[in-house]
Amino acid sequence: MYLSQEEESIYQGERGETLRRMMEILVALGDIYGAEELIPVRSVQVAGVSYKNIGDAGLEWISDLQGRAVVPSILNPTGMDLCRWQEMSIDEKFASKQREIVEAYCRLGITIDCTCTPYELYSNIAGPGDHLAWSESSAVSFANSVLGAKTNREGGPSALAAALIGKTPAFGYHLDDNRVPTHRVTLNFDLKGSDYGALGFVVGRMVGDGIPLFHLKSYPSKDDLKALGAAMAASGSVAIYYVDGVTPAPPTYEVNGKAAEKIGLGREEIDQVYQDHPLEDAEMVAMGCPHCSGQELQRIARLLSGRTVKKELWVCTARKTAQAFPDLVDAIERSGAKVICDTCMVVSPATDVRAKVAVSSGKALAYLPGLCRVKVGFGTEEECIDVATRD
Ligand code: F3S
Repeated sequence: MYLSQEEESIYQGERGETLRRMMEILVALGDIYGAEELIPVRSVQVAGVSYKNIGDAGLEWISDLQGRAVVPSILNPTGMDLCRWQEMSIDEKFASKQREIVEAYCRLGITIDCTCTPYELYSNIAGPGDHLAWSESSAVSFANSVLGAKTNREGGPSALAAALIGKTPAFGYHLDDNRVPTHRVTLNFDLKGSDYGALGFVVGRMVGDGIPLFHLKSYPSKDDLKALGAAMAASGSVAIYYVDGVTPAPPTYEVNGKAAEKIGLGREEIDQVYQDHPLEDAEMVAMGCPHCSGQELQRIARLLSGRTVKKELWVCTARKTAQAFPDLVDAIERSGAKVICDTCMVVSPATDVRAKVAVSSGKALAYLPGLCRVKVGFGTEEECIDVATRD
């Protein structure tokens, strides 16, 4: 990979040990994936935050680094609500390690927003054609597909390296040749709410790391697109998709005359996702995967109006989103539900002790059984609220 004079001097350690190690990561990645050069990134989103996932080894690695992020860099969710962790039954040891991790990232200049939806908080971190280095799979999908930006799915270390250097190797989804649809998925029926998560759950399994181009009958909202992409990134490893007439268009529709494979889906395939994951016996309900937007908080507040929850109900969102809508948070919590910030049902250890959790998210459906070893039921938002408010 070609390195400029300045990049070469960082690589040789002339700007300190941390930057040398960061440059080493970027160069190694670039060499493995055949990048020709490093390109500047507009922003970074850093995963590898929950103590549940990175443990002591991760904490030690981050604590050892010195330096400051040189581009806007935002932290992914942690393993607990940083203010209300005791209400989540998080133990003191976990809480103290988690705080150390967050403080270590903070010292490196990473913004402690602790969210997988940074695009809800900042409008100036990703736009059409911008190169990014984002980590969390649903954020990557949203950035590539809905915002029209360009990012690979970074690991924690490579995202941190991009934050401190301000660059990433140009390969994968940074190049238009790798952003061409591989599958055309046609649906001739309407979708609503959690159906988009169910659709993503089905299509992710079918296409793996492919690039679907959807032809939909209904017009998805921004939150629907978020749910669709998140589910495909979890049940498969889809990092970019298109919805005809809704998202930015692909750079081209075929490469070397190779047309995308056609997939037709019926309503029965979406219904099957609900049927395969009944809500009965769920002892907890978790919503907000990816983190809730203001509109989603509003919908949940409306559904909970005048009702009292009988089971633990978490509504996960970014702290800044909760702070922007205090009336909605109050309305939700008046029912007994908890608006949980900085974390989520997947990356927090608090979910692991549950037997069965009800969700309306295709991504949580895909991840909870494997990552938290809990059974999972899948339903609409209305059905999940019914479960939470029933004895
Ligand atoms: Fe976000 Fe956690 Fe879901 S990080 S996408 S809420 S698994």
